[in-house]
Amino acid sequence: MIRKATLKDLDSIYNIALASFETPWEKVSIEAEFYNEHASIYVYEVDEQIAAYIITWLIADEAELLTIAVDEGWRNKGIGKSLINYMKELYGNDVIWHLEVSCSNKSAIHLYKSYGFEINSIIANYYGTGKDAYRMLLYPNLSIKTGESNVGR
Ligand SMILES: CC(C)(COP(=O)(O)OP(=O)(O)OC[C@H]1O[C@@H](n2cnc3c(N)ncnc32)[C@H](O)[C@@H]1OP(=O)(O)O)[C@@H](O)C(=O)NCCC(=O)NCCS
Repeated sequence: MIRKATLKDLDSIYNIALASFETPWEKVSIEAEFYNEHASIYVYEVDEQIAAYIITWLIADEAELLTIAVDEGWRNKGIGKSLINYMKELYGNDVIWHLEVSCSNKSAIHLYKSYGFEINSIIANYYGTGKDAYRMLLYPNLSIKTGESNVGR
């Protein structure tokens, strides 16, 4: 089940971030998004446990996918896709999406390309020295290959 996150979910979200990223967001940075009027924070819950989260911004007709992570034991089951599908439906088809992703993050790049995200540029040293990022864009109204969760709830 996908639902809007509350501050009660902060610890679970932070723990997934800690386990998922070399340089995870600090807890206060995640917390700050709960007070950001442009931010949306959603979680994917399985049996009352948080399996994944996504944080996005919507400013006018520009959406940004800031971060998404699925708890390791729940990966590759369609949860990442269902969270992105959910946010795309929530924001509608008229927005342009952008995101930054590490050039070495093959699974995330694969996921974003399946939505029609295209690499727009490379940002050198975005994640630290020698750790470049791709800036990826998804233009409105492109045909989208959608995916359904196969988690069975
Ligand atoms: C990237 C991430 C969010 C994907 O979530 P997920 O729930 O595992 O992904 P899904 O099950 O929805 O799969 C989406 C697609 O990615 C593919 N995929 C998943 N893991 C993969 C891997 N390790 N290598 C290559 N492709 C992979 C799936 O096969 C699927 O593609 P398909 O539809 O063509 O079959 C998850 O791997 C994750 O949390 N990674 C760590 C954090 C991270 O890197 N976040 C993104 C950067 S902000």
